[in-house]
Amino acid sequence: MKILIGYATSEGHTRKICRHIADHLVAGGVSVELLPLAEAEGLELSRFDRVILAASVHAGHYQRTLSDFVAAQPGALAAHPALFLSVSLAAAGHDAEDWKGLDKVVEDLTAATGWQPQCVAHVAGAYRPADYDLLRRFVMRQIIARKDPEADLDRPKEYTDWPALEQLVQDWLAD
Ligand SMILES: Cc1cc2nc3c(=O)[nH]c(=O)nc-3n(C[C@H](O)[C@H](O)[C@H](O)COP(=O)(O)O)c2cc1C
Repeated sequence: MKILIGYATSEGHTRKICRHIADHLVAGGVSVELLPLAEAEGLELSRFDRVILAASVHAGHYQRTLSDFVAAQPGALAAHPALFLSVSLAAAGHDAEDWKGLDKVVEDLTAATGWQPQCVAHVAGAYRPADYDLLRRFVMRQIIARKDPEADLDRPKEYTDWPALEQLVQDWLAD
């Protein structure tokens, strides 16, 4: 079994998530290729049995490299069992409006590319103040202060549930 894990990231947390999944799969004897989607031009998907794609939400959108990759591979991608990991801070909470917003981000991706992943999982991301420019740091401080009053706004915080992520991937593989 060979799995492609392709990701797009802005501040690096989705890469960390994908590395974690890759390590977990490799430890279980699965062959994995981990690839930033920005470097995936010309990739031959037929080399893989399954595909995991991951990207993070910024201002209601995924990275352009995700939609470019998906749009360039319509038939080949549809022919593979695929898991799409949508990484966001909305997924760290239980706000119904936030979750509706996440559904919309996925719907927009499908509308723009025609790709309907068989399996979509929303994964809680991270707050990484050192990786933001001044404006983003200001905006993100307001958001985190509101969503997570216990957070220290000067320090990074990961909301990802790592054991749940491993279980999710295991369940998808067993499906
Ligand atoms: C400028 C900016 C905009 C963001 N917009 C959203 C958003 O619209 N919805 C959301 O749920 N999370 C949003 N986030 C949170 C990111 O999705 C989260 O931090 C994620 O872990 C980033 O992953 P990455 O480091 O792989 O890019 C935003 C983060 C930043 C810095």
